[in-house]
Amino acid sequence: MKWRLRRYRRRFRRTFDSKWYRHTMQGESALWEQLGRLQFDFLIGHGLQPQHYLLDVGCGPLRAGVHFIRYLEPAHYYGVERDADVLGAARDVELPLQGLTDRRPVLTVMEDFSFDRLGHTFDYALAQSVFTHLPLNKIIRCLLSMERVLVSGGKFFATIYLNERGKQYLDPIEQGPGTVTHMDKNPFHYEFTTFEWICDGTGLIPEYLGDWHSPRNQKMLVFTKTGE
Ligand SMILES: C[S@@+](CC[C@H](N)C(=O)[O-])C[C@H]1O[C@@H](n2cnc3c(N)ncnc32)[C@H](O)[C@@H]1O
Repeated sequence: MKWRLRRYRRRFRRTFDSKWYRHTMQGESALWEQLGRLQFDFLIGHGLQPQHYLLDVGCGPLRAGVHFIRYLEPAHYYGVERDADVLGAARDVELPLQGLTDRRPVLTVMEDFSFDRLGHTFDYALAQSVFTHLPLNKIIRCLLSMERVLVSGGKFFATIYLNERGKQYLDPIEQGPGTVTHMDKNPFHYEFTTFEWICDGTGLIPEYLGDWHSPRNQKMLVFTKTGE
């Protein structure tokens, strides 16, 4: 019954709200402007320049993508997203709305992080509020696939909910008002040492950057690809 109601609501919303895709990010629709701009300002502050190639993993409805697409040279923004409907709406509604169609972003439906098939390498990559929804093995796959497509010195920024209480802590953690995270169900929290373990023996160097003004108290990590 519940899922029928949810499906009905979704269909209803799509019919009457042309910007329905903006409301698909788990209570984050009110943060559309703030979180889009925050991601953009953050990467600019970390050296993103118009000639760079950027891979936005789990780009969703292009909340941050629109800012990057406007800034980067045409066809230098690559967005991958598992939800074909959301990505399609972002392409068909949001891009024309923002006058950005001629910037030729490369938008690809993808769930398995097979970045190889994009046929390009990247100076920067970003996964905002994506690892927070992924179980560990998917994160491992994402990182090892990313290693293959980052240029030497390239940087992959990813946000997480942090577990500061150690691996033997099994209970939920309140991350802030209304946000409770878990070690084994969505939304997930992780220890930073988990990322050090994943990257051990790979060409990625993980670093904890921490606070970056996330309204959801997500912390920022960066993975830098070492030289060849
Ligand atoms: C909370 S939203 C964040 C969207 C965007 N990064 C932003 O901050 O505006 C998380 C997005 O990750 C996408 N996602 C989750 N798992 C994914 C996967 N395995 N591959 C690609 N996208 C995924 C979801 O469909 C969703 O659009």
